Formats: sequence, structure tokens, C-alpha cells
Amino acid sequence: MKEAIGYIVGGGLKEGFRIRLTVPADRVQEGSFVVCDDGRYRYFGLVTDLQLGATDPRFADEKTDRLQPAIQQALLGKTLYTTLMMYPTLLMDKGPDFGDPERAAWQARVEKGQEIPGPKPVKTVPAHHAEVRPANEADVAQIFGEEGKGMFVVGHTIEQGYPVRLDLNRFVKRSSGIFGATGTGKSFLTRMMLAGLMREDVAGALVFDMHNEYAFDDTDTDRMVTVRGLRTLFGNKVQVAALGRGALVRGKQPDFTLEIALSDFQTGDIELLGEALKRVWRRGRIRPNSLTYRCNVSGLL
Ligand SMILES: Nc1ncnc2c1ncn2[C@@H]1O[C@H](COP(=O)(O)OP(=O)(O)O)[C@@H](O)[C@H]1O
Ligand SMILES: [Mg+2]
Repeated sequence: MKEAIGYIVGGGLKEGFRIRLTVPADRVQEGSFVVCDDGRYRYFGLVTDLQLGATDPRFADEKTDRLQPAIQQALLGKTLYTTLMMYPTLLMDKGPDFGDPERAAWQARVEKGQEIPGPKPVKTVPAHHAEVRPANEADVAQIFGEEGKGMFVVGHTIEQGYPVRLDLNRFVKRSSGIFGATGTGKSFLTRMMLAGLMREDVAGALVFDMHNEYAFDDTDTDRMVTVRGLRTLFGNKVQVAALGRGALVRGKQPDFTLEIALSDFQTGDIELLGEALKRVWRRGRIRPNSLTYRCNVSGLL
């Protein structure tokens, strides 16, 4: 196969498959999608690491430029090589070979929905030396979904830039979380997901926006460009509420404010918060004009 980037030389389900690269290392990047077709199954995975290896460490430690070019060339790629770690994520059952008498029966079961070819979790491994290639547009579409109603493009693959879609109708049926270190794009992605849900009219959203990030336009401080907020994008489809009388959201007037009268508080509400309030009180975060003080609950703390 011309497009292969390497072949499997070891590894397993837990640590991932180890692949000997047959192309220059800079052709592949961490995080890109790769595919391994082996017999009946097609394995989809992510590149998690690239490592420099050597069959003999002496050749790795010594520079090859004092050798004749022919020998130098022979060393690179054979004695000195790069391994790639592929973390297998999903598997697709391609069914028995076309020539196999079992094929027709399998196909019929798939058509009746009795057999689901996948994608499903990976529970087996490909054989030694099975070839690995970069995922193409059809592979990415097979995993993440084809273009269509409710299919929202959340981004593109790193190298080739194939669209990665999310089926919003399925997305809203389950709980989801976006995790990552600070600055990795969680808020950015959340805003995009909310925009997708609204554009495709899949579901309504009640957003608890602690840092006033999503409603009004914001400035991307890295690139100094304006990031459009949901209110700007969708107008009156978005209602913005602020907490407390006269409160503003990023200096702008919200559609309405939420106010809780003191009479709305019951002793039980404060009791529920007792433990949390005690902790803030100890850290000295409660100021005399704060809610707890005004509610006269300091006796409880
Ligand atoms: N999908 C993206 N495309 C372009 N820039 C992005 C993307 N995601 C994040 N960024 C950049 O990274 C910065 C931090 O993203 P942000 O969503 O605020 O991170 P987090 O909420 O995880 O701390 C943004 O200001 C933006 O410049
Ligand atoms: Mg954030």
C-alpha cells in the first residue's frame, strides 16, 4: 500500500500499538488519526507518541556523517529508526472476505440490523507487521459522521484538515464534559458547541456563565481579535440575565436581572450551605456587607 506510514511491531491494548515508521518522522504528528487494516478488522487510533529508536545504541550515539553516504543511508531507517505509538480507540468489522461463502450471510445480518459492524471498542489486536496509514476523509467521516442535518463541524484534523463532525442530536441525549488545562480552549469549544446547538435548533440551553464569557463579544487576548458572543450571533434568541438589581454583564445591560428577596430565604437554605459557608468564613472570604451578614446568619457559622 503506497500511503502506508509504517507497520506494527509490538504493543498491546493497554499501552497502545508500536509502529515502525517507514516515512520521515516529520510526516506524522502527535494527535493525528491513523488506521490499520488487518484481515477482518479496521482499527482506528490516535498517535500518542513518537520515539527515536536504534537496533544498536552505538549507532545512535555516534554521528553518521563521517561514514560513506551509502552506509549512512543504510543506517538511517534500518538501524536507526522512529517508532510511533498508536492508541487504538475504535474498531470496525469489515466482515468476511468477499470471496468467503460466509460473506452473504454476514451482509444480510448487517442489513437486518442483527449484526452491527461498528465502530465499536477495540477488544483485539492486529497482527505483527500489519500496515498503518493516515486516516483519510472517508475514515474520519465513518467515525465522526457524514455531512447532514444536525451534524456540526467542531474542527478539522491536524494534518490534512478533514472535517470532524459531531452528531448534535445524539450529543444532547447524554451528559458531556469538556476538560483541559487552562488555556487549552475549553471556553472556546463550549461557545462553539452552544452556537451549533442553537443554529441547528437541537435543544435549548440554560447557561450558568460565572465569568460572563458567552453572551457578549469578547476579545481574544492572544490574537487581539474580537470573538463573537452568542447574543451577537443569535440576537433575541439569547436572553441574558444578571444577578442582582442594576447588575451589568461586561458593562452591558442584560435582558433582565434575577433578584432574591431576603424573605425568600429559609433557615433550611442556609443550613444546606452551612458547611461551605464555614469554610469561606475561615478563609476570611466573607466581608461584612456580604449576603451571609445581611441575612443575619452569622450566628449559624
Ligand atoms: N478552536 C480554536 N481556534 C482558535 N483559537 C483557539 C481555539 N480554542 C482556543 N483558542 C485560543 O486559545 C485561547 C484560550 O482559549 P479558552 O477557550 O479561553 O481556554 P480555556 O477556557 O480552556 O482556559 C483563546 O483565547 C483562543 O485564542
Ligand atoms: Mg475558560
